[in-house]
Amino acid sequence: MGKLLEGKVALVTGSGHGIGRGHALELAKHGATVIINDLGTSISGEGTGKVADEVVQIIQDRGGEAISDFSDVGDEEQMDLLVERAYSQLGRLDIVVNNAGIVRDRAIWNMSADDFDLVMRVHVRGSWLTSRAVARKWREESKETGGKVYGRIINTTSGAGLLGHFGQTNYGAAKAAIVGLTQTLSLELASIGATVNAISPGGSTRMSATMPGRAAPIEPDQRPEDEFDPKDPSLGSPVVAWLASPEAGHVSGQVIKALGENIQWLQGWTPKATVSNSGKRWEAEKLGGIFATDVFGTRTPGLRLGG
Ligand SMILES: NC(=O)c1ccc[n+]([C@@H]2O[C@H](COP(=O)([O-])OP(=O)(O)OC[C@H]3O[C@@H](n4cnc5c(N)ncnc54)[C@H](O)[C@@H]3O)[C@@H](O)[C@H]2O)c1
Repeated sequence: MGKLLEGKVALVTGSGHGIGRGHALELAKHGATVIINDLGTSISGEGTGKVADEVVQIIQDRGGEAISDFSDVGDEEQMDLLVERAYSQLGRLDIVVNNAGIVRDRAIWNMSADDFDLVMRVHVRGSWLTSRAVARKWREESKETGGKVYGRIINTTSGAGLLGHFGQTNYGAAKAAIVGLTQTLSLELASIGATVNAISPGGSTRMSATMPGRAAPIEPDQRPEDEFDPKDPSLGSPVVAWLASPEAGHVSGQVIKALGENIQWLQGWTPKATVSNSGKRWEAEKLGGIFATDVFGTRTPGLRLGG
């Protein structure tokens, strides 16, 4: 049996550490040639480094193929060049995993506009820039052949974006925006056959270790593959490999939580209760009663009504 991703070329952003490193190793294991993109920053986005080379070495030592790239995902020119480089050096780009991320946690009253902008830049603009660059290539290819292309984008959201998390208004907004990007782009690319999904991963990484009481980071290659550790940040990587594979061509616009031993298909923003005023405008003064009985009713558990 051939490998799941034989002959495919994949870009994984921010794959020098943590969750992205796990994805890169997994994609390479299944036969993809992987571009290890990583700017090599601190958790809050400062500095640069060559950690991507380390991951390339691990993949090559395991008999796989990879090249490193040190571009900044938030830089338009660098992302366009990176996608061009994939085509000129590796002949194609089939899979883009948008994973690079930083955090600058603070309660909103202590958060600077720079903390907001930089987090949005890396997560949202970064995911959008790689997506646009590759979407342009796939669209060109589809026009030339008059048919469908092989294209997979896998974005990275988070519990903070899906449910909220204290101290992360910037990060939560960015991770929720990534779901909007995923769903909208999946509609735009459907006609050319490319899919766009998001995963909500987890595990102990440099990033999660910044939160009080969290475990020390684990790098995916620094633990035995056959030992199960629920905090291993690479436990969601098989889901990424499958979503990237030919088998998942029918899955698009979806959010999959891939964390620990569990896989969950998530769906949000479905109506919980609908009340009609039968062709008439509502009156605000009467809504208290309507909300108490017909909208929220007994379904208050889980509602955050202050506090
Ligand atoms: N760790 C968790 O529990 C968790 C939970 C949910 C979602 N996530 C998401 O998973 C992704 C990976 O996070 P992680 O925990 O592995 O963090 P990490 O800090 O270990 O890895 C993030 C990587 O992104 C790189 N990076 C940062 N800015 C970059 C830029 N501008 N260009 C290119 N690379 C850049 C960093 O150098 C780093 O190697 C992030 O998108 C994060 O939001 C993490």
